[in-house]
Amino acid sequence: MRRIGVLGLGYVGLPLSVAFGEKQPTVGFDVNHQRVEALKQGIDHTGEFTKEELEKAQVDYTTDPEKLTQCDFIIVAVPTPITRVKQPDLSTLISASETVGKYLQPGSIVVYESTVYPGVTEEECIPVLEQYSGMKAERDFFVGYSPERINPGDKEHTLKNIVKVVSAQNEEVLNIIAETYGQVVDAGIYRAPSIRMAEAAKVIENTQRDLNIALVNELAIIFDKLGLDTMEVLAAAGTKWNFLPFTPGLVGGHCIGVDPYYLTFKAQSIGYHPEVILAGRRINDNMGKYVAASLIKQMILKDIPVQGSTVTVLGITFKENVPDIRNSRVVDIISELRDFGVDVQVSDILADEQEVQREYGLYLVPENQLQPADAVVLAVPHLEYCRRGWVFISNLLKERRGVVIDVKSVLDKKACPENVTLWRL
Ligand SMILES: NC(=O)c1ccc[n+]([C@@H]2O[C@H](COP(=O)([O-])OP(=O)(O)OC[C@H]3O[C@@H](n4cnc5c(N)ncnc54)[C@H](O)[C@@H]3O)[C@@H](O)[C@H]2O)c1
Repeated sequence: MRRIGVLGLGYVGLPLSVAFGEKQPTVGFDVNHQRVEALKQGIDHTGEFTKEELEKAQVDYTTDPEKLTQCDFIIVAVPTPITRVKQPDLSTLISASETVGKYLQPGSIVVYESTVYPGVTEEECIPVLEQYSGMKAERDFFVGYSPERINPGDKEHTLKNIVKVVSAQNEEVLNIIAETYGQVVDAGIYRAPSIRMAEAAKVIENTQRDLNIALVNELAIIFDKLGLDTMEVLAAAGTKWNFLPFTPGLVGGHCIGVDPYYLTFKAQSIGYHPEVILAGRRINDNMGKYVAASLIKQMILKDIPVQGSTVTVLGITFKENVPDIRNSRVVDIISELRDFGVDVQVSDILADEQEVQREYGLYLVPENQLQPADAVVLAVPHLEYCRRGWVFISNLLKERRGVVIDVKSVLDKKACPENVTLWRL
């Protein structure tokens, strides 16, 4: 049995560490001391695991990289973000590879799980592993790639019940990787023909999703101009067997809004300029501005003076039911409204106040301190907001009248109170 070590204990690495830790002692390494200390105490700030679940797994959470010398199957699950100019930022992946290289034992297998473009594992990571270990890949140690498909906040699709794609430098190592993951994944293992193909498969999964959302976002803009309710059009079209059930919305987070840029960067580096993928990105990146402009229009139509008005934005996380605020596109709505002289107050039941302040310079307002508003933007429909529904939303308005923007169309349109103008994407 291989001894597992996981680098990076975030949304991807922690579930892996816990799954392996339920079967055998596992090393979980992270450079973030706070994260490691919290996990040692059974606290998972990402909200994926309870204290009991963490306690059931035999994971040695550590910031000491030397513990990786006890392992011969190392999984790398560190972030792969983009830079300000929307190019791949591989710096964390490279520094994690340096750490792995320094402590790598002969005969070990290193599996990358971070999302990348085709070629990163072999062209960027392996040379670093070789340089820092002084060993040769495919002779002294082996490398594989297994993209992660988990969906944070989703209790239905979990590591155990999603088919795991694996790939490796050769057949023998591929079998070991497949067997090792097979211990923790019940849904089955798919052996991809090569590392590059597995890398490409992952990046297109998210690119496809991004583009499909971009299409419905564009449709939402067209239907808005035509005075048609997008969700009602989609419901009608959705009765056809092969109509795909995508809905409009903001595309944030560190996956769908980021990964396509990995692919387009690689394409451009070989002289091909992607058009469709980047067009989709542009549409999705502009949806926050569009939502804000639509709110302004509705306020004017309702005779609400825009400048000096108060708008409450509910939800700052990048999607519902997670505390993750990375690359949240709600900030686009907020900054656009502020440009119009609107006083925006933001509230979120799941986001961490300090993190929001650090990342975006925004102060979250506790619900009981929200001032009555001229409009409410239900930007991120956490379950709790949906559960409380219209009563909660209309109570946030001045005298229960004003504009409500339901970005994800979760509120019952028919139950919209009389003095409220509802606009949804
Ligand atoms: N979160 C998802 O839904 C998801 C799904 C599929 C794939 N991915 C991909 O998986 C990768 C990891 O994403 P994530 O969401 O788990 O990120 P994350 O930010 O939640 O966690 C990454 C962790 O890695 C740690 N880290 C950073 N540098 C390190 C280093 N040098 N050595 C050890 N640890 C280090 C960080 O402290 C952090 O705890 C990314 O490439 C992402 O695109 C994420």
